Amino acid sequence: MDEIIGLMGRDQLVADLVAEIRKGKHVILSGPVGIGKSAVLKAALEKAADKIALLIKLHDHQAKGQFVDMARQMLALGLLSAKELDLPAKLHDTPGPAIDWREVKSQVNRMSMRDLTQALIPALARSESKPVIAVDDLTSLTPTQMAFWLAIFDCAQVIGCASEKKARIRKLWWKMKEIEVKPLPAEVVRVIVKKYIEAKGVLIESPDLYISHVIKQAGGVPQAVYDMLDESGKERIIDKRKVREMRHEAGVSYLDFTPMVMILGAVIVSMRYVGMGTGDKTLYIMGGLGTALFLTFRFFVFKGVGR
Ligand SMILES: Nc1ncnc2c1ncn2[C@@H]1O[C@H](COP(=O)(O)OP(=O)(O)O)[C@@H](O)[C@H]1O
Ligand SMILES: [Mg+2]
Repeated sequence: MDEIIGLMGRDQLVADLVAEIRKGKHVILSGPVGIGKSAVLKAALEKAADKIALLIKLHDHQAKGQFVDMARQMLALGLLSAKELDLPAKLHDTPGPAIDWREVKSQVNRMSMRDLTQALIPALARSESKPVIAVDDLTSLTPTQMAFWLAIFDCAQVIGCASEKKARIRKLWWKMKEIEVKPLPAEVVRVIVKKYIEAKGVLIESPDLYISHVIKQAGGVPQAVYDMLDESGKERIIDKRKVREMRHEAGVSYLDFTPMVMILGAVIVSMRYVGMGTGDKTLYIMGGLGTALFLTFRFFVFKGVGR
């Protein structure tokens, strides 16, 4: 799907990110899952390619996997030697790019983060041009793992993504320029939906109703848009009933009635006790009836909202 639609409505953001990359800043792209952080990062790296002499891309979500992958790529780039990774002596004369990763992978995997960091840092530091490390996910780190990352910050430029700003790694955030990836505006979502409908040839009874429904439900999150479109793509024809049945959690979460329902419930229940205390029979009966109705109503509301 991405090939047909491409990256929509993110030109400014990509340009901002490219500018920060050129300035040599560490950058963190923040925003919820599915908002488009990885897509923006990818586009910016492509655009800045001529300015980046040495790029290491990490896709693992775990710090250990990220460091192992860093070691693999640095071996392949000839930035790191077998000796520095403490690989068997017979490999010490083999240049990094000639080493078969499959043979050494498990051994590198067994290294501690500390040993890995100690091997990686001098190798990164002696690189003529400052390496750029693009790490897709920096959301979940323990404080120890964060310390290893901070050590990397001194000898490489780090561009990362995070779906949550965890307090325990705020020291990392302090060192990074934050670029927030915001929900896509409705007009952009509209264009995405139209392109998709055209490309897939989905038949829709009332396209305007369908499109405005997707816009509302997706809350500007492209992944949510795609999830709904893919769901619709399975149908031969989308009629009005199907549109009404569609919903997506990303949009639904904006429509949280819980506090309102709780207050209404409290008012109805207290009516019953006020009625009892003041001897107002009508209020007492109304409160009792109201409570029963409220409980039934609540059951249906929550079911309807999809909780
Ligand atoms: N601006 C956009 N226009 C069109 N598709 C997009 C856009 N942003 C993201 N996407 C698509 O939405 C999906 C989720 O984006 P992704 O970058 O993986 O989100 P994140 O990394 O924030 O979780 C991907 O398939 C991506 O290609
Ligand atoms: Mg991502």
